[in-house]
Amino acid sequence: MNDSRESLPEATEAPLIVDAEFTETEEIAGSPILDSAERVVTEKPSNPMDLPPSLPTPEGRGRVVTVINQKGGVGKTTTVINVASQLGLRGYRVLVVDADSQGNCATGLGVDKSRVRTTTRDLILNPESAVNARHATAVDNVHMIVGDKTLIGLEQEMLRQLGRERRLNDALAPLLPHYDLILIDTPPSLGIVSVNALVASDGLVVPVQTEYFALEGLALLSGTIREVRALLNPSLGVDGVLMTMHAPTTLNQQVATELREAFPRLVVEPAIRRNIRLAEAPSHGIPIHLHEPNSAGGQDYRDVVSVLERRWGLER
Ligand SMILES: Nc1ncnc2c1ncn2[C@@H]1O[C@H](COP(=O)(O)OP(=O)(O)OP(=O)(O)O)[C@@H](O)[C@H]1O
Ligand SMILES: [Mg+2]
Repeated sequence: MNDSRESLPEATEAPLIVDAEFTETEEIAGSPILDSAERVVTEKPSNPMDLPPSLPTPEGRGRVVTVINQKGGVGKTTTVINVASQLGLRGYRVLVVDADSQGNCATGLGVDKSRVRTTTRDLILNPESAVNARHATAVDNVHMIVGDKTLIGLEQEMLRQLGRERRLNDALAPLLPHYDLILIDTPPSLGIVSVNALVASDGLVVPVQTEYFALEGLALLSGTIREVRALLNPSLGVDGVLMTMHAPTTLNQQVATELREAFPRLVVEPAIRRNIRLAEAPSHGIPIHLHEPNSAGGQDYRDVVSVLERRWGLER
């Protein structure tokens, strides 16, 4: 754990803040909904399934990990909420950055979005807002920067900006010594906001639903990772491939077997079982480990975090 965190001001307490004014979030006129097939880079990788392993975290700062898969609904946000929370409960200092305009991390961590004034959009456009953009959550030791609908349209706005791929990286830099882990949730697309997350990251966690199209989607992600490594962040690698919404059907088992064969060193065990408790926890504004810690989902995320804790070099 990092010890050099005393000088950072306390995170703004939301939803616990009482003095925050309600401010309507700004709508960006005419901004298109992001195309989930959008890609910033287009070269074909030579081996479409190659996922490069990651490197250890540099000394003196927290590890930045992005949870990414351009396929929608595979468990990215559920993973961010519950991995962050389990680490928070273990005493690590964790910052969640929600880079998705759906803003679901806030709900799942008990943060009232309507009362938050500084979001991930501000963080990307004004890196100096980083310290004040942090909010306390329902979980001790877990802070977050809230994503919301103002992220829609940011891609268009950023087209005019120099160094647009590095803005999140630059904004997070002063926070890194104060946390053990910075966990970034991404939208189901590989646009410029996701590329910003890749550029800011040491490692990636890729949740994959053990369903038929799982492996196909990974080729696209692999190509993007390769190009970000070549152009923007040579040390980017994958920390883990996480199997999600796993059920004991023949198809699920077959896909899990394929993933284990394709990525023997990257697959994180156990597979996260399909479990209704994981789906209902966000409606209570708490993670699984405060909602139903002994449910199948609670157990699986606890076990997965123990594996990731070692891979991330966190354990004391
Ligand atoms: N292991 C699980 N068992 C049952 N339901 C789950 C599980 N994991 C996630 N879910 C549910 O599946 C839905 C999609 O999950 P989630 O929002 O985490 O996916 P996502 O990849 O973040 O989606 P998006 O691409 O839209 O951001 C949610 O309703 C969530 O509660
Ligand atoms: Mg999500």
